[in-house]
Amino acid sequence: MGRYRETYDRWKRDPEGFWAEAAREIDWSRSWDTVLSEESGLSRWFAGAECNTCWNALDRHVATRGDQAALIYDSAMTGKVKSFTYRELTEKVATFAGALQRHGVGKGDCVIIYMPMVPQAVVAMLACARLGAIHSVVFGGFAAKELATRIDDARPKLIVSASCGLEPGRVIAYKPLLDHAIELSAHKPSATIIFQRAEAQAALVPGRDFDWKDEMDKARAEGRAPACVPVAATDPLYVLYTSGTTGKPKGVVRDNGGHMVALEWTMKNVYGMDPGDVFWAASDVGWVVGHSYIVYGPLFHGCTTILFEGKPVGTPDAGTFWRVIADHGVKALFTAPTAFRAIKKEDPKAELVKDYDLSTLKTLFLAGERGDPDTIQWAERALGVPVIDHWWQTETGFPMVANPVGLELLPVKYGSPSVPMPGYEIHVVDEAAHELPANTTGAIVVKLPLPPGCLPTLWRNDEGFRSSYLADYPGYYKTADAGYLDEDGYLYVMSRTDDIINVAGHRLSTGGMEEVLAGHPDVAECAVIGVADALKGQVPIGFLVINRGVDRPASEIEKEAVALIREKIGPVASFRTAIVVPRLPKTRSGKILRGTMRKIADGEAWTSPATIDDPMILNEIGDALGGVGYGKKE
Ligand code: COA
Ligand code: AMP
Repeated sequence: MGRYRETYDRWKRDPEGFWAEAAREIDWSRSWDTVLSEESGLSRWFAGAECNTCWNALDRHVATRGDQAALIYDSAMTGKVKSFTYRELTEKVATFAGALQRHGVGKGDCVIIYMPMVPQAVVAMLACARLGAIHSVVFGGFAAKELATRIDDARPKLIVSASCGLEPGRVIAYKPLLDHAIELSAHKPSATIIFQRAEAQAALVPGRDFDWKDEMDKARAEGRAPACVPVAATDPLYVLYTSGTTGKPKGVVRDNGGHMVALEWTMKNVYGMDPGDVFWAASDVGWVVGHSYIVYGPLFHGCTTILFEGKPVGTPDAGTFWRVIADHGVKALFTAPTAFRAIKKEDPKAELVKDYDLSTLKTLFLAGERGDPDTIQWAERALGVPVIDHWWQTETGFPMVANPVGLELLPVKYGSPSVPMPGYEIHVVDEAAHELPANTTGAIVVKLPLPPGCLPTLWRNDEGFRSSYLADYPGYYKTADAGYLDEDGYLYVMSRTDDIINVAGHRLSTGGMEEVLAGHPDVAECAVIGVADALKGQVPIGFLVINRGVDRPASEIEKEAVALIREKIGPVASFRTAIVVPRLPKTRSGKILRGTMRKIADGEAWTSPATIDDPMILNEIGDALGGVGYGKKE
């Protein structure tokens, strides 16, 4: 462990010195007073400094790499490919910033972006950054109610959206979802700007909805192309909502200064990228991977980033990823293991790889869910490049644990995302925050302070930040993941400790789904668990206990429950199975035994907890699961 060990130790000896040195790669309009300080008990990085994220992502590169592609949009859905140079993207972003400004958006205002994977989504994000406005991108697979919850929490001045998104075989009209969300929300944005796609035209509400193209034309005609507005390093760049333990998502805040420093550091040292290289994160701008590694990281570093609209399979086939790599000379691909499981299922022998020249590809990075050894080894064989599992969260914004190929490629241990990155001192502890010995599973925690780039707090909710992340293990950040460290310091992440599940790399709350199901008029109580799924990693299953006196067929209520989750949370929940059961297994104190139910569903060995109210209920659950094809595995 030469360069990795040397770098990690250097950070550990002098964290502030380490990050101050990393900060030299960023342009600042005013330097910081302190590298690390505290404000009401919360860490602040680079207080006193002023900077602009858009400047660092775009403008500063125009002089040196103005003609280089900054963004390549490749849509497997429409067959369209369009490249934007740094100069062109800067112009578009400045113009759209002018359009936002015409609607009164300025420093500190919030803008929600509800967009499919089109370049306008990236333009809107960077235009907000240019003005010092705070963007909040909402993933397109969420339904109106989820969007409404975010509108009420973020209170945006304006919403940017599109007429539609494209899913295989169907056009998803976004505008009716947006209209419905605005109807549901208590907060009303003063305007929306809608990008009309050729596949569907949205009806615009006069006086409230404005057409993207018209707004760009007006800004151009008025010569509006505002310069980058300096903001405090500690000012928020964005709020990204992520699933918590309830139906109310958490607004993860990202600041401007620390975020740039941390992401820029990772591009070279973790991902091994040089300016001019092509980086492809096959994710969605609605997730943190999209924020950090479709948009910000690659652009800070002067790379070319790929914005891919499509799926790993079926658009048109399991060779799409290889086509994109070959067409654009991708050096590193980052996606979720589930995408590779999907490809492997369609093309188990990786025959389609042979049709493409993948010689530019140097590394495949996987994250978002546990990287199962089978998938990793299959990808290694198929591509002949190192396959790097790495572990992080929406909250941290960049990898906590990785194999830092830019420093050195450490030996790969299957099932482990490898070793802690600078910024993260990882511990595995018991419930009393006592360190556990190597190879013993416990809660994974990070010693405070968190590094730059990590969430400084939750949006307008410092108390929620403290209680969710800092209260349980004093002096540590709670990751809510469980696992162990081996004798070489490699981490193994095994499961969540809360009711978050990971479905096709998408983070979802079973608690949130239970809240929706409980709203069904015939449901007395319910439980949702995540069960193992060969393709998506996990999928949710709901158990429903029906109110006494309801005599409708169970199958009817089950169907309504499935439809209700799709309507209230969205298709992304992949909620397809609801089962009516006579009762739920509980402890004598009334706690539902979700963990035991999951083990039964996954066909794992289970024992009846001593505190159970009535052990027979677990057999009933087993029978119910058997009826829908679960619980039979070894
Ligand atoms: N807008 C509207 N609907 C969406 C959507 C969007 N942006 N994204 C997904 N959906 C819909 C899908 O069409 C699907 O609908 P269906 O129930 O009618 O079939 C549903 O939400 C579930 O989506 P998903 O779980 O993604 O399943 P899928 O079958 O469409 O695709 C994979 C499965 C594995 C191919 C896909 O999830 C994938 O590529 N994932 C890995 C990459 C990734 O995005 N990772 C995120 C973090 S790195
Ligand atoms: P998200 O916030 O959507 O990025 O989801 C973060 C969660 O996904 C983590 O807390 C883990 O539970 C899981 N996760 C992400 N990456 C990995 C990984 N490489 N191995 C295991 N679990 C992971």
